[in-house]
Amino acid sequence: MTTGARHWRPHLAAERKVTHLVDARTLLDPRVLLVTGKGGVGKSTAAAALAIASVRTGRRTCLVEVEGRQTMRALFNTEPWDFDEREVRQDLFGLSIDPEASLAEYLAMFYGARRLSRLVVNSTAVEFATTAAPGIKDVLLIGKVKEMERRRDPDGRFVYDMIVVDAPPTGRILNFLRAPEATTELVRVGPIREQAQSLIDLLLDPNRLRLQLVTLLEEMPVAETAESAQALTELGVQLNPIIANRVLRPQADAATMKVLADGIAADTLQTVLAGSGFDDPASAHALRHLGEQHLRRLGLQDEMRAALHEGVDVPVFELPYLATRSFAENEVSLLADVISAAVS
Ligand SMILES: Nc1ncnc2c1ncn2[C@@H]1O[C@H](COP(=O)(O)OP(=O)(O)OP(=O)(O)O)[C@@H](O)[C@H]1O
Ligand SMILES: [Mg+2]
Repeated sequence: MTTGARHWRPHLAAERKVTHLVDARTLLDPRVLLVTGKGGVGKSTAAAALAIASVRTGRRTCLVEVEGRQTMRALFNTEPWDFDEREVRQDLFGLSIDPEASLAEYLAMFYGARRLSRLVVNSTAVEFATTAAPGIKDVLLIGKVKEMERRRDPDGRFVYDMIVVDAPPTGRILNFLRAPEATTELVRVGPIREQAQSLIDLLLDPNRLRLQLVTLLEEMPVAETAESAQALTELGVQLNPIIANRVLRPQADAATMKVLADGIAADTLQTVLAGSGFDDPASAHALRHLGEQHLRRLGLQDEMRAALHEGVDVPVFELPYLATRSFAENEVSLLADVISAAVS
């Protein structure tokens, strides 16, 4: 038995703390979810899965992309998304917000100059506005989200029951959230100030909006998530249960995992494998190595799970790692199943 194998023994599946069963029924409670996290952790995937799960509960849902990267278009295999909301699936709407279009709409709203603004608002105007008041771009983005959140049907019903925003990564999200406040400091009176104030009201109302942090159970994302959670809480924004994405599950039953953890000798494994076609020494070694690697990864994951629970005072909800070659709507739908099961 190797020392490494003994070291990982406490992490046996049977002894594992079953944290993924945390009460996540509140995941879909707010009307706006700003989904954020470190680059590449699965923000867009989680946002799409949350939106699908939301539709399944009967909510009319809009999934919003803010950086024009067309991730959703690829996931849902649709035409490119743009500033016009489109129904991509029944009761699931898609929108891609870009600052130019937001600025045009904003000017039109206040100055009734839609046609003119379409002409005037080009990247130079946006660049000018951005330089004059850094953060204005983010104010416009949140402004658009707020407009959608408040919008009502002629019969008085909210048009959207849920708006899921695939927001900028955590590095930018704090500035993004500070933008309205910075604007109220900059602009003391007038419509822009009122608009900024109404955005602050939205950001700080936990019944209307919450931040959805997504992380991996890995060192850097966990550290960053703990830092962001604290900074966001200090800003007064309510956090949704944190989503830990791509969580590995034990790939064998408890008995097999125990045998591996106890450090099975390669020749014993060879005997066990007799007649399987893998009972040569090289296969036995390779299999044992794979098993040990798997245990080690589960062990590291357990450590990171513990660090996350220590670092943040928010429940953690886990989405499984899906070992697929391509990642598309089907896979997102499987993750939505996990969310649906948790919220029902
Ligand atoms: N649960 C999962 N299992 C397996 N692969 C996943 C899972 N979630 C996401 N992925 C894959 O991880 C990659 C990154 O996911 P995604 O694009 O959602 O991350 P992101 O945080 O939005 O990235 P970016 O910061 O670039 O916007 C994608 O290739 C996606 O298919
Ligand atoms: Mg993304």
